[in-house]
Amino acid sequence: MKLQGTMQAGANGHLYIGGCDVVELARQFGTPLYIIDEACFRDNCRQYYQAFTARYGAQVIYAAKTLLTLAICKIVQQEGLGLDVVSGGELYTALKAGFPMERVYFHGNNKSPAELKMALDAGVGRFMVDNLYELHLLNRLAGEKGMQAGVILRITPGIEAHTHEYIKTGQIDSKFGLAIQTGQAAEGVREALDCPHIDLVGLHCHIGSQIFELESYTHAAEVMMDFAGQMKKETGWMPAELDLGGGLGIYYVAGDAPQPVSRYADCVAEVLKQKARQYEMPVPTLLVEPGRSISGPAGSTIYTVGAIKEIPGIRKYVAVDGGMGDNPRPALYQSRYEACLANKIDRPAEEKVSIAGKCCESGDMLIWDIELPRVEAGDILLVSCTGAYNYTMSMNYNRLPRPAMVLVNNGKADLILERETYADLIRNDLIPERLQQSKVLNMAAVR
Ligand code: LLP
Repeated sequence: MKLQGTMQAGANGHLYIGGCDVVELARQFGTPLYIIDEACFRDNCRQYYQAFTARYGAQVIYAAKTLLTLAICKIVQQEGLGLDVVSGGELYTALKAGFPMERVYFHGNNKSPAELKMALDAGVGRFMVDNLYELHLLNRLAGEKGMQAGVILRITPGIEAHTHEYIKTGQIDSKFGLAIQTGQAAEGVREALDCPHIDLVGLHCHIGSQIFELESYTHAAEVMMDFAGQMKKETGWMPAELDLGGGLGIYYVAGDAPQPVSRYADCVAEVLKQKARQYEMPVPTLLVEPGRSISGPAGSTIYTVGAIKEIPGIRKYVAVDGGMGDNPRPALYQSRYEACLANKIDRPAEEKVSIAGKCCESGDMLIWDIELPRVEAGDILLVSCTGAYNYTMSMNYNRLPRPAMVLVNNGKADLILERETYADLIRNDLIPERLQQSKVLNMAAVR
């Protein structure tokens, strides 16, 4: 397993993250447990800030959908980034954390009237409007409140990115955004300009996630600037802001080769400059919305090994006390991960095993065919790079309580998310009055 962030092998044969002994974290907080390496998370924020904000005056907007808790909001705020939220729930979290609302960007392809009102009242910086229904709804709601809504229009650039089918979004046949090729994007701009309570500030596109080729981003930037040039010619309007969506792909397993963030920034900033010259317009302020590349490598999940089953000549299954409930990505996208035994970090690989979760589902497999030291019940298995889209996509299938989360830094571990309890699982359950009595109605069942 490739060591991420502040991970280090200790002299006691244990893995350390943020100066904390991972085996000790398992003992203290229980498993499964999400561990967030604060220094790594902050360093990833700073790489974007340096590459985009410091050099090009761009705005870096952290994608909350990858990992969000109140403490994470505080860190993002301290690092000077904006926040991309996609629901009332994410917005509520930002509000409760005291995140500056002018740095909040509200996404989503079907924001409800209640969510839009909540965002208007909160004073979010920008509405990323996805479609004409939303445009007119927002115009009306802002009007009722006597407000102007700052809007960035989401455009579908018609780009096929190389990533999993479920996480690509830039192609015409997408539920997101207004397509350039169909003329709907141009119609969106014209209608937005006609809406008295909409202040059309810029354009947005997002081509997908876990993308490695910088050409995909530069191509998207070209297509968007060409569209901006067309709009200038047709309407006289020019975007003050251009948002190119999510960040770079990350390392999960050998062969994944992310580009340096600074190259990403240089490439797209150059396209903006050139195209602005071509169309004789000011260079728009660049916006980027990285999530995975900030939170992903900063997170790990630890589990305790339980049942081990060897099917002779076929496979050795090693079951852990979590799985698709805390990390649905392998089941959903065939995502691959690396892992190690945090209590045997100094031992060489000895056997090939497959890591199974504990859900009642054959598809609940975290890792197929991984080389590990000899695995025994009670070992602490650590899966790396689980910071993004794990906790935020976690679920209670089989009524498994969701894990706790600790933030580690300089030898200190702080709980930032409590472990769910069984009581939490039934918190919203109700029994109608007519079901209160425990009388058996099926007489055949009474013996
Ligand atoms: N901006 C927009 C409009 C997005 O839709 C996304 C991700 C991002 C930014 C952040 O992209 P990132 O920097 O994280 O690549 N659940 C899937 C990924 C879904 C991506 C959703 N949109 C997964 O686990 O791989």
